[in-house]
Formats: sequence, structure tokens, C-alpha cells
Amino acid sequence: MVVTDTDIEDWRQVHNAIIPDELGFDDVRERLQRNHLDVAYLGEALVACTTVRPPSPDLAEPIVIVRVLPDYRRQGIGATLLERALGQAAESGGEGVATIVWEPNVDGLRFATAHGFTDEIDRYVPDGETSAYLTLRRTK
Ligand SMILES: CC(C)(COP(=O)(O)OP(=O)(O)OC[C@H]1O[C@@H](n2cnc3c(N)ncnc32)[C@H](O)[C@@H]1OP(=O)(O)O)[C@@H](O)C(=O)NCCC(=O)NCCS
Repeated sequence: MVVTDTDIEDWRQVHNAIIPDELGFDDVRERLQRNHLDVAYLGEALVACTTVRPPSPDLAEPIVIVRVLPDYRRQGIGATLLERALGQAAESGGEGVATIVWEPNVDGLRFATAHGFTDEIDRYVPDGETSAYLTLRRTK
């Protein structure tokens, strides 16, 4: 679980390496108030981060997001972390669970679909950008 300033910095480093929407240290600290954030290591190496967002006014079901740095993909880390995140989300309300994928992340879309997130419930293009963030849902 993300607790210390080092954890926050590591979580931010993985997030910003993968997602174009750059987050600052204080942005992550603010998210920590609402979300369950985790970082993952392979030995000493920082490899991944996860977000579990509880139901909110925007969506009455939890959201789970797994991000694995490109050098560490395709060895099962994503699937392991998704299982853990789904376990954390299981206690939240709602029959379903969603994830958010930036559409150009081909690996992410394939992974989400393979894990049952097939129901597109939202598509959002931030101002000034051309690519969409897709919210994809499955039952728990
Ligand atoms: C999506 C993401 C988390 C997947 O992480 P990952 O660690 O590569 O995931 P896995 O290793 O569990 O699975 C990926 C693929 O590797 C395969 N794989 C797993 N272990 C393997 C192994 N030991 N040897 C070879 N292949 C393996 C899986 O079968 C899967 O194959 P597929 O894409 O053909 O279905 C990663 O690509 C990422 O961070 N993407 C950007 C963020 C994002 O879009 N996240 C999605 C929202 S949850």
C-alpha cells in the first residue's frame, strides 16, 4: 500500500511513464485520500502500480487499474496484480467492476478484454487531446 513519500514518488513514476496525463506529487497524495494505491517491485526494481477507486458519484461501482512498465510485461505480473486489485474491490458496492484504458494502449485493451472488461460504458477525450479514455465494465 502506498504510504510514504517514496511510495508516492514510485507510484507516480510508473503512472507517468504509461499515461500521458502527468500527475504531480500532490496530485497523487490527493488521490490517496480517495483511492487504494499500490506499487509493486521485482526484487529491487520498480515494475508496476495499481489503483482501486471505490464507488463514487460518477460511477456506483469500483474501478481497478493495473499499470506494468513495458520492460516487465508479458510475464504474468499484470494478471497477478489484477487479481489482487479485484480482491480489494470485491468489498465495495455494486455487482460490477470497471477499468479505464487509454485507447492507444493496445496491450491494455487486449489485457482488459481478455479479463472480461468488454462492456464499454464511457468514452472520454480530454480537452486538447485526440485519444479517448475508455471505461470498460465486467461483473465481479
Ligand atoms: C495491461 C498491462 C497491465 C498488462 O501487464 P502484463 O504484466 O504484461 O500482463 P500479463 O503478463 O499478465 O499478460 C499479458 C500477456 O502476456 C502473456 N503472458 C503472461 N505470462 C507469460 C509468460 N510467462 N510468458 C509469455 N507470455 C506470458 C499473457 O497470456 C498475456 O497474453 P495476451 O496479451 O496475448 O493475452 C500492461 O500492458 C500495461 O500496463 N498497459 C498499460 C496500462 C493499461 O492499459 N492497463 C489496463 C487497465 S487494467
